[in-house]
Amino acid sequence: MDDRNRVIPQEELALQQDYADRVRQLYRARLPRQPLACVVTFGCQQNEADSELIRGMLADMGFGMTDDEERADLLIFNTCAIREHAEMRVFGNVGQTSHYKKANPDVMICVCGCMPQQPRVAETIKKSYPYVDIVFGTHALYKFPQLLYRRLTEKKRIFDISGDERGVILEGVRSVRKEGPSAWLSIMYGCNNFCTYCIVPYVRGRERSRSPEAVLEELRSLAARGYRDITLLGQNVNSYGLDQQGYPDFAELLERCNAVEGDFRIRFMTSHPKDASEKLFDTMAKCGKVCHSIHLPVQCGSDRVLKAMNRRYDTKRYLELVDYARKVMPDLTITSDIIVGFPGETEAEFEETLALLERVRFDSLFTFIYSRRPGTLAAEMPDPVTREEKQRRFDRLLEVQNRISREINAGYVGKTETVLIDGLSDDPNYDLTARTAGFKLVHLRGDRGLIGQYARAEIDRSSTWALFGKVK
Ligand code: 5AD
Ligand code: SF4
Repeated sequence: MDDRNRVIPQEELALQQDYADRVRQLYRARLPRQPLACVVTFGCQQNEADSELIRGMLADMGFGMTDDEERADLLIFNTCAIREHAEMRVFGNVGQTSHYKKANPDVMICVCGCMPQQPRVAETIKKSYPYVDIVFGTHALYKFPQLLYRRLTEKKRIFDISGDERGVILEGVRSVRKEGPSAWLSIMYGCNNFCTYCIVPYVRGRERSRSPEAVLEELRSLAARGYRDITLLGQNVNSYGLDQQGYPDFAELLERCNAVEGDFRIRFMTSHPKDASEKLFDTMAKCGKVCHSIHLPVQCGSDRVLKAMNRRYDTKRYLELVDYARKVMPDLTITSDIIVGFPGETEAEFEETLALLERVRFDSLFTFIYSRRPGTLAAEMPDPVTREEKQRRFDRLLEVQNRISREINAGYVGKTETVLIDGLSDDPNYDLTARTAGFKLVHLRGDRGLIGQYARAEIDRSSTWALFGKVK
């Protein structure tokens, strides 16, 4: 199958551009001022990147941006389906908008992203949230101008959760990125792994890689525009290129990215341990721009549970990878995701996860209590452990990890690190925030004019979550 079949054709994008112009004209007739849009993003970096595309389309439609929901003429909720909690938050936020609609019936409310890609959720919005105007899923993202045009002209609510699960690749839609020296760069979309707890493969479709040429061109352009911290994004970057004949694999792509001229750092996420390889770590070690930092979700420390999760590696392989990576990059930072309370997880199996934490000593963790996602395989598994017990395990996990993070961070005190200064600190005792190559957050005293630049930072204090110091 030719990849180009799946790239949205230029004519389709030109059509959307046409709709964007028409929306611009409609708003010009409706309002005596520039219309304002507010994009509220939930969930992962992939969603952040999608929201940047949405902002690009909004700019083409003539919208200005606001962070103030109450001032917006168009409100867009880009949603996440990964856990029930995320969905409840979205419903809470969307529920609030009925007030805006009462105050101003012309306000447009739009819900998009992973949640409505599930028919069950689209149905709920249709029935219980009648003031939502436009609903579209991840596959229809690029059609936003057309959907908004239809809503403005057809006087009915618009639902588009179409799209076949193979999915499409979007090239040529501009991103309006957040301010600052960091940028996301999507290299692939979708996921083939079907971990039994996870909804992602159902809402984002199958893995599909952008062409290496498209990735490199975007990277060159970001570097030329002065971005200094560029994160290659994908649900599972380690399987980059495997869906297409003749594409480089991820390690080779990294090498090509590393060869792009400019003064910037390269990161990537997320890596799946089943596809991470010694070759990848060797490549990281030899590529000067690639940060010695990896997010390598292990999920749990029990081989039985890993199997039930369909992760396709065991703890032995995971530890082998970590040991090898540290051998070739002694300064490597490693972060991970852990789920506690997967259906049927026993106390002994949970303790295996704690033992793994002690053995690996992650820099930090993203920790989750298992959340049942209708439609996934794990949702059908017996789950006898009580909510309270899961919460207790979760608290114990945090306690262990917080101690480890605190100990690791304390090891930085007295050292000098090269950091990229990326913003203002919200801590009144400090001026700036920065990131080490290992992505550790540093609060610094120093000149505000340094934002966007590299600096040497003397670390004089640490906590569980951050390092503190001054610009040298
Ligand atoms: N429940 C809890 N955590 C989940 N994750 C994915 N699906 C679920 C779920 N159903 C976590 C995994 C994944 C991270 C992005 O979210 O740890 O790596
Ligand atoms: Fe979900 Fe697993 Fe895919 Fe990650 S790799 S998105 S956890 S199915």
